[in-house]
Amino acid sequence: MTEQKTWSQRFESALHPAIALFNASITFDIELIEYDITGSIAHAKMLAHTGIISTQEGEQLVAGLEQIRSEYHQGQFNPGIEAEDVHFAVERRLTEILGDVGKKLHTARSRNDQVGTDTRLYLRSQISLIQTQIREFQRVLLELAEVNVETLIPGYTHLQRAQPVSLAHHLLAYFQMLQRDWERLGDVYRRTNISPLGCGALAGTTFPIDRHYTAELLDFAGVYENSLDGVSDRDFAIEFLCASSLIMVHLSRFSEEIILWASEEFGFVKLKDSCATGSSIMPQKKNPDVPELVRGKTGRVFGHLQALLVLMKGLPLAYNKDLQEDKEALFDSVKTIKSCLEAMKILLAEGLEFRPERLSTAVNSDFSNATDVADYLAARGVPFREAYNLVGKVVRICLEKGKLLKDLTLVEWQELHPAFEEDIYSAIAPSQVVAARNSYGGTGFEQVRLALKNARTQIQA
Ligand code: ARG
Repeated sequence: MTEQKTWSQRFESALHPAIALFNASITFDIELIEYDITGSIAHAKMLAHTGIISTQEGEQLVAGLEQIRSEYHQGQFNPGIEAEDVHFAVERRLTEILGDVGKKLHTARSRNDQVGTDTRLYLRSQISLIQTQIREFQRVLLELAEVNVETLIPGYTHLQRAQPVSLAHHLLAYFQMLQRDWERLGDVYRRTNISPLGCGALAGTTFPIDRHYTAELLDFAGVYENSLDGVSDRDFAIEFLCASSLIMVHLSRFSEEIILWASEEFGFVKLKDSCATGSSIMPQKKNPDVPELVRGKTGRVFGHLQALLVLMKGLPLAYNKDLQEDKEALFDSVKTIKSCLEAMKILLAEGLEFRPERLSTAVNSDFSNATDVADYLAARGVPFREAYNLVGKVVRICLEKGKLLKDLTLVEWQELHPAFEEDIYSAIAPSQVVAARNSYGGTGFEQVRLALKNARTQIQA
């Protein structure tokens, strides 16, 4: 380790090595280097543009920063702990390259507005990448839904068989959850995309800077109105973690269903070898590790959200070193979400196969058509509650006789109520039960086809 620097002439001795290590963030904030360089280039250009430094100095700073970028890309820039953080590391290297001119970069700027700028630039680009991944995932869901409009699957409430639904309808439910996730990220993006650069340490600067100029160079949509708020706001990070937590809620719920579906008890899907794992001892096992890991990783993202909320709740204005803790929470969440979206997309696109025979047996062997018997009577003038009570009785009788509703003879039906006619059989056939739910947003095939069409339009936006 190189000699630990002293801060300024104010300090007489260097930091204790253990404290230097404790204080440093370079081991993880190196992730921000691209954004740090980009932000510094904008700052240097602004310093020259406003005449705070000469045009030539501005050009030298930009060239020096670009050199550091390429050194980093080539694996030649590996700052150690003594650099403390990515901001110092870049500035120090710049001074090595340019001499005294390098020391001018930090004019009219603080690491406080700098780190806020870097974090926003980082998150802004990650949000776009995650949105793209969500779109890809939605496309896979759409493709799967398109070929499964008339595949039936039991629908559940309380995890008890309730009414059969179209498999496409079930898949499109997740499509819509992800649609909200995509939109929510768009909202977060708008509030992330505001520049704190030029807020200085906390109070602005004595130099005639142009904050709008740097904001424009960095493609920010606006600037923070208040410098104290600008350097200490992390709402955007918390909002991102809220949106991320909801993405994970959705992926985790889907995972849980896939895990259930892959069990022998449900048997609705078969996992393909490319996306399943075996057991080290039980040779017959095929485990759904992918959805289990997604379900498990959900906790990390929730944890990071909680960590940031607690991090912020007691902070007085303005910057406090506590804020350094925001980074690992964001980096780990971004990495987790991206890997989960990728793995789930692969699983869905090529890692599982629905088992039509099991699905068909499931929807043909229960009482999930009971509501339709009640609806049949209600449509023929019997008050619904009366019909409901009568069908309850029918189900009880069937259970006693070991029969399903479709096994009752017409005579038996008519003994129960004279309104029953031959068409009761078609009314309770699973595909008719599904088709008949033709209300907007329902599972009827016509509605599902409409929903597919609407979904295609939604992702074009
Ligand atoms: N590494 C610091 C962070 O991540 C940079 C800002 C430090 N500012 C300061 N006043 N110590 O927050």
